[in-house]
Amino acid sequence: MPPALVASAQASPNIALVKYWGNRDDDLRLPSNGSLSMTLGGLHTVARVAFDPAATVDTLVIAGQVAPPAARQRVAQQLDLVRAAAGHDLRARIDSSSNFPSGAGIASSASAFAAITLAATAACGLALDAAALSRLARRGSGSACRSVFGGFVEWIAGDGDESSYAIPLAPGEHWPLIDLVAVVSQAAKSTGSTEGHRLAASSPLQTARVADTPRRLSACRQALLERDFARLAEVVELDSLMMHAVMMTSSPALVYWQPSTLTVLHAVAEWRRQGHEVCATVDAGPNVHCLCAPGQAAVVKAKLQDLPGVDLVFECPPGEAARLLPN
Ligand code: PMV
Repeated sequence: MPPALVASAQASPNIALVKYWGNRDDDLRLPSNGSLSMTLGGLHTVARVAFDPAATVDTLVIAGQVAPPAARQRVAQQLDLVRAAAGHDLRARIDSSSNFPSGAGIASSASAFAAITLAATAACGLALDAAALSRLARRGSGSACRSVFGGFVEWIAGDGDESSYAIPLAPGEHWPLIDLVAVVSQAAKSTGSTEGHRLAASSPLQTARVADTPRRLSACRQALLERDFARLAEVVELDSLMMHAVMMTSSPALVYWQPSTLTVLHAVAEWRRQGHEVCATVDAGPNVHCLCAPGQAAVVKAKLQDLPGVDLVFECPPGEAARLLPN
């Protein structure tokens, strides 16, 4: 056994600019399409994983509270993969906490599984390269594979477990966009993304969405590399609406939006018509991520805070890669 058995790591969530929705293989979390994201700075999950030769079960503690069985089971499955790779069968205590509310519509599973996977592999003395870490994090939550990296990140869909992982596209300094997360509801969503992915294929629109993804990925990559905000806004908003069109036309239908979601979407479109460089994207929840060009965030944030239905606004620049913390 490796000497340490315990390690801590930190990872940030990410916002998808071209989104992942639906799997070709649910167990392996092999996505139906490639995706592209910005890692979110200022927000993070810290996870400490301690393997204990005396423990008989895995224990998951989130923000100081013992987690419900379903959450523990999901993390235990992820640790099973790490145990298999390390060649031992020790149970662990996992402590995880985030500096943002888990009900705030920011993908806490991405930061949590990136941090837990990094901490668990380090605790076992496994020194994985970034691609291998990304592949493994993907198994816990698809979008976690992108949170392994900082800045702008692309998840290559691949055609099997070996070839499906994220790669860094550009560092955050390349284009310091700001994501203003307009929180309109902190209620837990009734259908989580794991279940949502399973419904994607029931929408008659999913095939068209997936078929068009290479075009949107290429447009998004180019907009990022050229720092072309108008082009970025066009593809980001189209991609988000295409994913929600699939969600809304699945059986059963998934309608994540609330009335205030639409209030923010209409306001952002109006502000852009007035010349502000801001565009909007929505994940599997009601809250709206408002991406702003550098220098635009202060004025847009003030406008968002004045909108009815917006409870709070997080301000996130591009964030850092997942990293180990001193024990
Ligand atoms: O990684 P998951 O299973 O939480 O799925 C993430 C799904 C979206 O956030 C809606 C899109 C994405 O690419 O992050």
